[in-house]
Amino acid sequence: MNSRLCLSSHQPSSKLLERVAPAPPPPPPRVHLIKTMSYPQGTGEFISTLPERKGWAEPLIQYKDFWFRRLPLEQILLLQDAMEPRADDIILATQPKCGTTWLKALAFAVTNRSRYSFTDDHPLLTTHPHRAVPYIEIPSPGTDHAHRHLEALPSPRLLATHMPMSLLPLHAGSRVVYLCRDPKDTLVSKFYFERRISETSDLSMDSAFSMFCDGFSSSGPFWDHCLEYWKESLARPNNVLFLRYEEIKSDPVQVVRKLAAFLGVPLTQEEESSGAAQEVVSLCSFEKLTSLQINQVGGVDRGNRLYVGNSMFYRKGEVGDWMNHMSHEMGEKLDRIVREKLQGSGLVF
Ligand code: A3P
Repeated sequence: MNSRLCLSSHQPSSKLLERVAPAPPPPPPRVHLIKTMSYPQGTGEFISTLPERKGWAEPLIQYKDFWFRRLPLEQILLLQDAMEPRADDIILATQPKCGTTWLKALAFAVTNRSRYSFTDDHPLLTTHPHRAVPYIEIPSPGTDHAHRHLEALPSPRLLATHMPMSLLPLHAGSRVVYLCRDPKDTLVSKFYFERRISETSDLSMDSAFSMFCDGFSSSGPFWDHCLEYWKESLARPNNVLFLRYEEIKSDPVQVVRKLAAFLGVPLTQEEESSGAAQEVVSLCSFEKLTSLQINQVGGVDRGNRLYVGNSMFYRKGEVGDWMNHMSHEMGEKLDRIVREKLQGSGLVF
């Protein structure tokens, strides 16, 4: 993306977080830590032993039953030992194309609302949501190791990830917001994104559909990723909030309230009266974000004729668009697969 940004200055307002939610006593250090081997020669040799499959814009590599692009996987392996999770970390977890960009904007606006006015100089007016909230496993352009720039961030850190819950280095006190989306809309969104980022793409909907149904998608299988966070949200509701894209679309103001309360910064009476939740919603709306220059120009060159433009994270932003791009039978088939995979969990789409 085209502008370098001092992320530390844009992290959530600790003043606001502390005012409403005094820090809890320190819990046991980590709930998830996969002990991996160390990689004195780098991770490349180990990764070359893992299954690799082509089909999407980039080949994906399978590790611990999930599929990853190479660069994030390298970081994930290194992070298992190197990242020091903190009790006050806020982590936004998604699968690609489930509304990550929107969630980043909303969470950023909610947690920083004491610091910036919504109109004048709000960072989201000039900063892409993906720059405002860094990914744990995707180093920002110009940095090589994800964990180094994460370490430098002041607490509380607002971070994002596509990692499955089982691979996420997580402190027991951290709060995780998980956002999922109807798999059919996720797939359609993914199909168009993959075609846009690759100069040479000849991806067809049929092929995207069959890979997705096979569980072969970045951070997928789709259902396993959802399921891990779903189960954790049931087991630890104070630490894991499970949201749906469709729920935000239908009542965004209510979701902002829910998000603020979950993050320990509930809207005050005064904020309720002044319409602060509505302000957050407007600032982060599809219409507003797509009208801003930062979300229209610039991007990241991933090499191999792949270019991820800032604008490519916005397409239609609708619920049910799958019907315009997939047959009814395809929709039914994907629904059936997902239903079977999630059977007995209580999670339904
Ligand atoms: P569509 O392709 O269906 O339009 P991600 O951020 O995880 O990459 O997901 C991208 C999807 O979220 C795209 O869906 C995009 O249009 C949608 N999106 C991005 N910003 C949004 C916003 N502010 N409001 C609603 N949807 C948004």
